[in-house]
Amino acid sequence: MNRAKPIPEQTQRMKLITNVAAMQAEARDARCSGRHLALVPTMGSLHEGHLQLVRRARQEADHVTVSIFVNPTQFAPGEDYERYPRDLDGDMDRLSEVGGADVVYAPPPLAMYEDGSAGLTWVTVDRLTEHLCGPHRDGHFTGVTTIVSKLFNACRPDVAVFGLKDAQQFFVLRRMARDLDFGIRLVGVETVRESDGLAMSSRNRYLSGESREQAVALSRAVFAARDAILAGQHSADDVRALMRVPFGDAPLAEIEYAELVDADYLQPVTELRAGQTVVAAVAVHLGGARLIDNTITEVPSWVQ
Ligand code: PAF
Repeated sequence: MNRAKPIPEQTQRMKLITNVAAMQAEARDARCSGRHLALVPTMGSLHEGHLQLVRRARQEADHVTVSIFVNPTQFAPGEDYERYPRDLDGDMDRLSEVGGADVVYAPPPLAMYEDGSAGLTWVTVDRLTEHLCGPHRDGHFTGVTTIVSKLFNACRPDVAVFGLKDAQQFFVLRRMARDLDFGIRLVGVETVRESDGLAMSSRNRYLSGESREQAVALSRAVFAARDAILAGQHSADDVRALMRVPFGDAPLAEIEYAELVDADYLQPVTELRAGQTVVAAVAVHLGGARLIDNTITEVPSWVQ
């Protein structure tokens, strides 16, 4: 008797590509046949937040590539690179739930970097990386901008779709694409949340029991900031103080930052000005996980 799990038809139709030259050939052929290409870059361990990105990519284009690569160069020393969850079969199954992708691009580390861990060339975005996660994750954004440049060069998309949970990453990559003339449009998709507000993240699986319960403080913090801004609060320091309040009920959480920055250059703001777009962002260490969340809010036009 054959007990093997049947492979869903959607999964069978997805092309699995694992090397750069084959990916570039696929992109070239798709372009030649007049298709519009979208890329959803991921590190796998796909959850509903990622599926939302794939749905959006489908709306934007008629050829969708999902890349899956746990990128060693964006993990700072001592971070969770080794234990980061990896499950390609599970990811293929999850993708089939949303009709699949045309291509899953899942290169092994040796296909991306000569020695499997890094190359000799780096892409760096200044200024936007000075605050929030930048100072706390040594080399992280350089790792991200470098790998995403490589993914752009391999997959040659017209549009690339990213989650706004990593708002700083999105703004940094959008700036990189503009500054380096990639000719790729970046689309940011709203954060998908659990029913209690916790932003979906592959790292949520590190949480259990009390740490999972207390993780709700992150979304409470960034929603409190958004509500205060929309209610006319104009002192940025008062907004920062409000963001810390929910952590009174989360004694296991160690706050790394609770910050309010402008959306253009991600610099801390002092006074909120009418029409300005600001990002309220938090990062905490909790139950062995590093968690982030944010809201992006336009200051109402009537704020003095
Ligand atoms: O957001 C992520 O999953 C990663 O930072 C990305 C963009 C796939 C680059 O490795």
